[in-house]
Amino acid sequence: MRRFAPMLLAAFALFATACEKKSQPAPSGQGAPGGQVAQPAAGGGTPAEANTLLLGEVGSLTGAQATFGVSTRNGIDLALKEANAAGGVKGKKLAVRVYDDQGKPEEAAQAVTRLITQDRVVLILGEVASSNSLAMAEKAQAAGVPMITPSSTNPTVTEKGDYIFRVCFIDPFQGFVMAKFARESLKASKVAVLQDNKSAYSLGLTEVFTRKFTEMGGKVVGTESYSQGDSDYRAQLTAIKRTAPEAIYVPGYYSEVGVIARQAKELGLNVPLLGGDGWDSEKLYELGGSAIQGSYFSNHYSPDNPDPRIQKFVSDYKAAYGGVPDALAALAYDAAKVAIDALKKAPDTSGKAIRDAIAQTKDFPGIAGNITLDEKRNAVKPAVVLKVGDGKSEYVTTVNP
Ligand code: PHE
Repeated sequence: MRRFAPMLLAAFALFATACEKKSQPAPSGQGAPGGQVAQPAAGGGTPAEANTLLLGEVGSLTGAQATFGVSTRNGIDLALKEANAAGGVKGKKLAVRVYDDQGKPEEAAQAVTRLITQDRVVLILGEVASSNSLAMAEKAQAAGVPMITPSSTNPTVTEKGDYIFRVCFIDPFQGFVMAKFARESLKASKVAVLQDNKSAYSLGLTEVFTRKFTEMGGKVVGTESYSQGDSDYRAQLTAIKRTAPEAIYVPGYYSEVGVIARQAKELGLNVPLLGGDGWDSEKLYELGGSAIQGSYFSNHYSPDNPDPRIQKFVSDYKAAYGGVPDALAALAYDAAKVAIDALKKAPDTSGKAIRDAIAQTKDFPGIAGNITLDEKRNAVKPAVVLKVGDGKSEYVTTVNP
């Protein structure tokens, strides 16, 4: 399977973006406290060129969850390039100012403030991790700048206000999908849970999974916790082993899940792990090795879907960025397309006009499913269950809401 150096790719993508804004200086990386890697704003807030519509993006281009930010960057880049090649929006070219938050909520909050007050972007795309989107959403809402998260699934993100949207499903559905899969497909009656207590996403999924699995007649025999960034999970796994579960639900991010899978195997826990979209990264296979094979997770799309529209996206993406697009890339592409569609339809580029146009999104053909935004500004879409194989995942089933 083809691999690539994420940072190199990110730097190139940023440069390519900067190139569209000719009068901008080259990306500086400046090492500012906000962790920004994008080019600085020229002229204190007005886009350097009057014929440019400037969007903002916040993502984890570096840090433990770097593949989230890099895939998202690529997906957005592809959508913007296509839109610019087709003539842009309202006679203007689209550009994006990107800030790296290193996967940290505090940095995400600072970045969004910069996008709003300094760069004066018309719309914000991001973040991936729900805890980071939560840190951003309040600020975007207060400023009246529309924000679309491609992939944050915790329900509270869009509850921050009527300027906050997402193009993915939410965790009450995703948690249900895996509870149903564990109970009906794996016929499990005893499952343990290992949650990340630093992640709103993980805590939310634990709650839903536990409730649904119990309602379906199963029993959650134990719930253990870790903190994002930990490297030793043996104490928790030993406690879990004593409860003799038939599967372990680990609603975390790939950065920890891969290591957890290895340590579970070392301790003789030979049961499948179950997870959510946070597992989706090419790094999962590297970190988890053979220990993660045979485990299952819920996700937003499968790149193996034969639908010609999806296959065109997969091949365009491969040609541009050299890898199979994961769900983050697909959702980021979708989020940017929804944003572009709204910018076209909005009578002007005020926050209110753009917000109202996004809210109208209906039957929009996305790569990770068709997008209709409900009154809570969430997309209602099917989920897929994938099985972890050797270096890639295999499609198992689709679950409709
Ligand atoms: N849904 C995760 C969250 O809300 C983010 C994520 C989405 C990660 C898709 C991987 C793939 O935190």
